[in-house]
Amino acid sequence: MPLISPWRADFPGILALEAEGQTYLDSAATAQKPQAMLDALLGYYAGGAANVHRAQHLPGERATRAFEASREKAARWLNAPDTQQLIFTRSATEAFNLLAYGLEQHFQAGDEIVISALEHHANLLPWQQLALRRQLKLVVLPLASDGLIDLTQAAQLIGPRTRLLAVSQLSNVLGCWQPLEPLLALAQAQGALTVVDGTQGVVHGRHDVQALGCDFYVCSSHKLYGPDGVGLLYGRSHALQQLAHWQFGGEMLLHTDYACATFRAAPLGFEAGTPPIAAVIALGASLDYLNSLDAHAVNIHELALHAELLNGLQQRQGVRLLGAPNVALASFVVEGVHHADLAHLLTEQGIAVRAGHHCAMPLLQGFGLSGAIRVSLGLYNDGADVQRFFTALDQALELLQ
Ligand SMILES: Cc1ncc(COP(=O)(O)O)c(C=O)c1O
Repeated sequence: MPLISPWRADFPGILALEAEGQTYLDSAATAQKPQAMLDALLGYYAGGAANVHRAQHLPGERATRAFEASREKAARWLNAPDTQQLIFTRSATEAFNLLAYGLEQHFQAGDEIVISALEHHANLLPWQQLALRRQLKLVVLPLASDGLIDLTQAAQLIGPRTRLLAVSQLSNVLGCWQPLEPLLALAQAQGALTVVDGTQGVVHGRHDVQALGCDFYVCSSHKLYGPDGVGLLYGRSHALQQLAHWQFGGEMLLHTDYACATFRAAPLGFEAGTPPIAAVIALGASLDYLNSLDAHAVNIHELALHAELLNGLQQRQGVRLLGAPNVALASFVVEGVHHADLAHLLTEQGIAVRAGHHCAMPLLQGFGLSGAIRVSLGLYNDGADVQRFFTALDQALELLQ
């Protein structure tokens, strides 16, 4: 029996792409959107747009209520204890930059920031650049052969100079859950702040930031079936209080004259200017939609689809998987075949997968590669999508090998 997603019809984008002959297998880059989200986006604009947190008039009050309702839904999705601990940024990338600038004044020359070898550029470059500005040491935790951060080496590398640990929950290249609990414990034992990149992890299953116990958790709406232009930054109260304000402008202040100003606390103090109002409201609709699904059934479907993908890859000669993926995606190269040539032939056959360094250039370099192909799955993908990918892969390899 081919695997069928009961939720596929809820996503007009996946149906439109299919009608065009495209098989979308790039959800780790960005996900297709449910109809409920499109309705919310249109509903906000068609019903009368208004700015938030400013106007006393009816449209302004209505927009503010809908915007703050989304904050509540997002806080609930992550099990944050309080909506005030959830900041909307313009992307996950912006959230990491906010952290790097907002925490900068706490670092002194010689302090250490610890990341891992698998971080996305968004969770590497802000820290690397902070280290360069402040003469800090950027420590990189190596991986074991299964693609997991090596805990033995982590225990040696996280030490008294460690001021901050920033690691991914789920790698966008290797597709395996990282051992966050022991890693965070190592950092916390040194009194370091902890940052979790949940951008990929948050999409699969439900995650509880309180149970995780990190100081900051970052993720992105557009991978979570929401609109682009919105990032989410959760912070523990005491951690948020350590952040200096970093972008200045409308609505983030308490009082100003020409000489100086005082600023609001989180979240509004970190949401300077007009926020992405429509997108935040529409994210709320995506979360409502996801909440309406049977989470267990989604999980079973995703795991079954992933198993089919892995089996197929493992059966093909010359295919080398990167790491040991256990959810959502698989990255691979084929012996004797350049990934760009393979990507070209897959594209010609209407297979939308990602090729290249996946915004993790140092990780790919560590594998001795300039790039790889990544197939990534959404809850709307069917077994037929995976089969179409393998048919195209076989045809491409027949030409190339
Ligand atoms: C693991 C990970 N972190 C961070 C990001 C950055 O997210 P955004 O592009 O939404 O800012 C991505 C996006 O691919 C990612 O996969």
